[in-house]
Formats: sequence, structure tokens, C-alpha cells
Amino acid sequence: MLAVVPPPVTVKVPSKINVHLSVGEARKDGYHELTTIFQALSLSDEVTVAAAEEPGLEVHGEGAKVVPTGENNLAWRAVHALAEHVGRPAADLAKVRIVLRKGIPVAGGMAGGSADAAATLVGLAALWKLDLGRDELAHVAATLGSDVPFALYGGTALGTGRGEELVPVLSRHVFHWVLAFDQRGLSTPRVYGELDRLRSAGDPPRVGSHAPVVEALASGDPHRLAPLLGNDLQAAAVSLRPNLRRTLRAGVDAGALAGVVSGSGPTCAFLCEDADTALRVSARLAGAGVCRTVRVAHGPVPGARVVDGDDSP
Ligand code: C5P
Repeated sequence: MLAVVPPPVTVKVPSKINVHLSVGEARKDGYHELTTIFQALSLSDEVTVAAAEEPGLEVHGEGAKVVPTGENNLAWRAVHALAEHVGRPAADLAKVRIVLRKGIPVAGGMAGGSADAAATLVGLAALWKLDLGRDELAHVAATLGSDVPFALYGGTALGTGRGEELVPVLSRHVFHWVLAFDQRGLSTPRVYGELDRLRSAGDPPRVGSHAPVVEALASGDPHRLAPLLGNDLQAAAVSLRPNLRRTLRAGVDAGALAGVVSGSGPTCAFLCEDADTALRVSARLAGAGVCRTVRVAHGPVPGARVVDGDDSP
């Protein structure tokens, strides 16, 4: 008798930016206490999870050449973490094939690797017909990385702890963003380390409270949000990549309301008045020659979701 092979499942998963990122002191476990507001953006990856005789990981698209395809890829670690969580036999692990189609820049501060891990959890739960809610998946997600739970939920959320403890934040209307990708990625631990160094050598300015940012998001007014965009990691990212200062200036010169380094960088995110302005800003910024590629995006958008395949348990 032939075994029934379930059809592949494809999951779309958003990138994120931090519209507010306040970094506290380093903890004993090496992480920093955060207060951050994430927004999920339409710039996304697509992840297909399939049962196949030949296991493996294939990567296509943005930055594909530098994505590791071995066991240390976060998507593979997601397969192992979920299998362990539900007690799936090792034989099933040996039959998983993953295809990543990348739109999110690699090591760009937009949580692309975390997005792929979140998408793999959602895809595999559908492929294996597991009856798991988002909250249970989020527990597994948090063991994989600080930004993985947010990629599951999407929307706009306040993150505390390492960034993995989330509560939704009301964000009215749609915000329009332009994203500038840098030539090369930046290592997240290196950027946190640089912030520790800058803080031990002096007292770089810190972002204020997140409360006015929450109000600005609720108002839906980009003019209110723009002056409040702030990221404690920006000084560290700029210290490691001084050319980002020029990129940030060029985005505002091109007509954006304000710009901020996304997460640990080096991607810069520019908030624009509306969709038409975002298109104009992106064309001008592309012509300014300060970055590798420019993209437009909007947010908030939903978290990882099945776009092709059966997601009923
Ligand atoms: O959790 P994740 O694997 O994404 O974190 C990558 C690195 O970023 C950590 O090893 C740590 O150096 C740094 N980090 C941090 N504090 C956080 C989140 C990340 O220091 N809250």
C-alpha cells in the first residue's frame, strides 16, 4: 500500500521594524532587558515545508548565498524544537524539506531568520496536522530567538523581557515605510556589544518612554509618530557602520518624515506621509547611491500564515 504524502504547505511571514527600542542593562544570561514596539511590515519571506524522501533546505532570493543551509539555520532548529515539543519520531525529521524564498534582507535588523523560524513552526504544524494554538507555538518560538514570537503574531506589539513577552498595541490606519538595505549585514551580538562599549565609555543618549509612541500609533498620524521613532541600538550600529549616518540623512532629504535604524541594523527605515510619497522617496533614495537596494513596505500586517496548503488540524 502506498503511504499518503501530505501536500506541501507554504507560509508567508512578515519582516519587522522596531519603531521604539529601549535597551536596558546587560543581564547575567548575556541578554539585555528591552522595551520595544514592533511593527510587522509587508516585506516578507515565503517558506514552503514539505514531506520528502530527501530532507534539506533550499534558499532563494534576497541574500540567499549567505544563508547557512545546515543544521544551524534557525528554520532547522525550529523543526527540531517542534518535533521535541510534540514528541515526533526522529524518522519524521529525516523527511522534512524546507524552501525559503527570501524578501527580507539577511542580517539586516528586520528579523528575517526569526521570520523563517516562525514560518517553519506554522508550516510544520499544518503539515503534521498538529492542533497547536499560536500561544503554544510562541513558547517553542521563544526558545529559538527573541524575535521569533513576534513573527508569529505580527501586527504591532509591545515587547518586554528579551523582546519575547508581547502584548498587542493598537495601530490605526496603515503606515508607509521605505527601507534602505546596506551592502552587508551586521551581527546582532556585535551591535549589542558595541552599545555596551559605548555606554561604558560615556553615556550615549537614550530613547524616552514608549508611552507617547503608543499614543501616536493609536492616532494613526505619521506626523505624530515620526519625531518619536527611536532606537538605542542606532548609535552602536552607526559606530560600526559610519556610512549609515549618510543614509539616514539621505532618506529625510528625499522627503521622508523621519528615519531610524531598524533593530540592530544596518537596514534604515523611513516613515513617509502616504503611499505615493513612499514611492517618490524610494526612487530618490535609490538614485542617491547611499545603499544597496531600496524597498517600499507598509504595516502593520499579520504574522506568519498559511497561504497554500491545508492548515486545518
Ligand atoms: O535572541 P537572539 O538569538 O535573536 O539574540 C541574538 C543575540 O542578540 C544574543 O545572543 C545577544 O547577544 C543579543 N541580544 C541581547 N538582548 C536581547 C536580544 C538579543 O543582548 N534582548
